[in-house]
Amino acid sequence: MLNYFGIASICYYFIWHFNLLESLGASAHLLKAFRNLGGWYGTSGLFLVPAVLHLWSIGIGPFVKRRKVENQLKAVLLRNAEGYGPTVVRMYQENSYRDVVTVRAPGIGAEKLQSSKSAIEAALGRQIETVRAHSNPRFVDLVLVRRDLPGKILFTEIPCSIRQDAFSIGESKEGFKAARISDLPHLLIAGTTGGGKSVFFKQALLALLEGSPNLQMYLIDLKGGIEMKPFTALPNVKMAKSADEAEAILSAVKSEMEKRFAYLEKKGAESIEPGRDPYDRIVVGIDEASVLYTASRDEEDYEQVMEAKRLTEHIAKLSRAAAIHLILATQKVTKETVDTRIQENVSGRMCFKLNTIEGSVRMLGHGKAADLPAIPGRGIWQYGNEELIVQVPFLDKSVLTARLEGIKSQYANGERKKRHPMLLEDQKAAPFWLDAQQQVALEADAE
Ligand SMILES: Nc1ncnc2c1ncn2[C@@H]1O[C@H](COP(=O)(O)OP(=O)(O)O)[C@@H](O)[C@H]1O
Ligand SMILES: [Mg+2]
Repeated sequence: MLNYFGIASICYYFIWHFNLLESLGASAHLLKAFRNLGGWYGTSGLFLVPAVLHLWSIGIGPFVKRRKVENQLKAVLLRNAEGYGPTVVRMYQENSYRDVVTVRAPGIGAEKLQSSKSAIEAALGRQIETVRAHSNPRFVDLVLVRRDLPGKILFTEIPCSIRQDAFSIGESKEGFKAARISDLPHLLIAGTTGGGKSVFFKQALLALLEGSPNLQMYLIDLKGGIEMKPFTALPNVKMAKSADEAEAILSAVKSEMEKRFAYLEKKGAESIEPGRDPYDRIVVGIDEASVLYTASRDEEDYEQVMEAKRLTEHIAKLSRAAAIHLILATQKVTKETVDTRIQENVSGRMCFKLNTIEGSVRMLGHGKAADLPAIPGRGIWQYGNEELIVQVPFLDKSVLTARLEGIKSQYANGERKKRHPMLLEDQKAAPFWLDAQQQVALEADAE
């Protein structure tokens, strides 16, 4: 406070305040009134203005707000046996999506606050996102919604650059989220029709194709393959549209996996690294994967479908070390469609709205996907212990085609080079970059 008084006195002595007012264009009337003020009145007037502003900024404003919230909470929460009600300890903005009110509520606890959630929401006139435990067990954090996630984010407006072998998950209240395929190593996408599975699937594939120099992609769509067709323009993408073709591709992937294991054993290495080892990363993408699991016996290609299913499970179980990844999208989540063997080996899950709590429990271990709002592209991302509600990027068909065209021209002008023939293509054609010794070793492996 003395500082303010000191500064005010100096200003007064040098009549800076007067000059300042004049330069700000104060009216002659005001200037006169100011000059007429006696010495001490002028000084204390000058002193009071910044002092009051300062007090407000350091605490009075927030203090008044805290008291207001505290009284609103007291109106809906019971006092404990000693008559203490809740005290608001701190209020702050956590990020652009959330405000936090830290409450000290002796004898009340998080459960009680949770069960009074709707009453508190009504009293505060704010929506509560969660009631969160605080690092100090005496306190509880009420997390209030400041604004909701956007209803749409465009692929072309992703706020950060996606690194090699990674793809976007989407915008969450913790910020923008991306994932590396090598960390997953498999990805399961679920949700009812219209939830945004195929769009998410495609934007992930596109990001992987754009960002990974050594990648082969095999796509399986037993429902006709129209949506995935643009991808087949690339020389490192191959697509299967029938059960026959799917079976052929999957068994080729399985043999490739075994070949890679033999290589790893010989080399004494733990896992394939596409930049270091002479193998490309392989991504097998299956849209409408439930078709694989719900074929009926009287269908003509039943046997092939079942074989494709067995191969998928086998690959899911073992391929972690071989730089081979599965991305499966499925509409139905039942015991039959998402096999437990697949479930156990997939740690990355993207779940859009599901109609049933059972489906949500099967996919995520709880019923929250059934409560998601019906916004296309709004889903729950789960990876290990991490769980986030996200809005995934929307990829327009024209953007997809244009970006694929860009990659294709890089292959055409030699900026990108295919290091391997694709599986089921002429495997004898030796990758150009291998020296003779490596070629012999690879061929010996193959035999
Ligand atoms: N991330 C998204 N953001 C906004 N709209 C989306 C998004 N994903 C999908 N949509 C809309 O929903 C429609 C259905 O999406 P789609 O991916 O085909 O659903 P699904 O494969 O789950 O049936 C799309 O045509 C699009 O209009
Ligand atoms: Mg779809």
